[in-house]
Amino acid sequence: MGPGNEDFRKNPKFQNIAAGRKRKMKAAIITSSDKGYAGEREDVSGQVMEDILKEAGYEIMRKVILPDDRQMLADEMLRMCQDGADLIMTTGGTGFSQRDVTPEATRMVIEREARGITDAILFYSLSITPRAMLSRAIAGIRGETLIVNLPGSPKAVKEALDYILPSLKHGLEILKGLDSECARKE
Ligand code: MTE
Repeated sequence: MGPGNEDFRKNPKFQNIAAGRKRKMKAAIITSSDKGYAGEREDVSGQVMEDILKEAGYEIMRKVILPDDRQMLADEMLRMCQDGADLIMTTGGTGFSQRDVTPEATRMVIEREARGITDAILFYSLSITPRAMLSRAIAGIRGETLIVNLPGSPKAVKEALDYILPSLKHGLEILKGLDSECARKE
């Protein structure tokens, strides 16, 4: 089978490649913050996240601020998955405070953990601040949606995204069946 062959064009994988390469990846953003939800604090980290993701070519399909509430966070993540988000990024609620429950909410939603992403963020972040060890962030996959927790500080969001975004794109293409080649050019 190859291009020019009718059967090849009917192959879902080929259709995925043809359709997928033309559309932007859809990203959804959740800021987990009691104060942000109550309107007592400006959502700077959510805005930083949106700016960086847009610049990287993502379409922002939804951006919400929620309180640090496990069920509300999990319900919103599920809705975003159902609505076709390719990537859900959360900011905040990953620390040690009694109210920090974003990783627990994420665990309610994901089917497969993607530990390499959070290990990579931790590895890179530790070279910037030892306090990076205080984030309990996780990452994982539900269906064809990747969910990644980031800490709540705008600085942490920028540091983590700058480091992971190039590899994340390749991961999402594999997850969605748009790419199956992992060979690196360099
Ligand atoms: N990671 C990076 N890259 N840069 C940072 O400044 N701050 C840390 C950590 N991870 C930080 C970081 C701190 S001080 C905390 S308390 C934890 O993230 C948890 O943050 P959160 O509760 O806002 O999610």
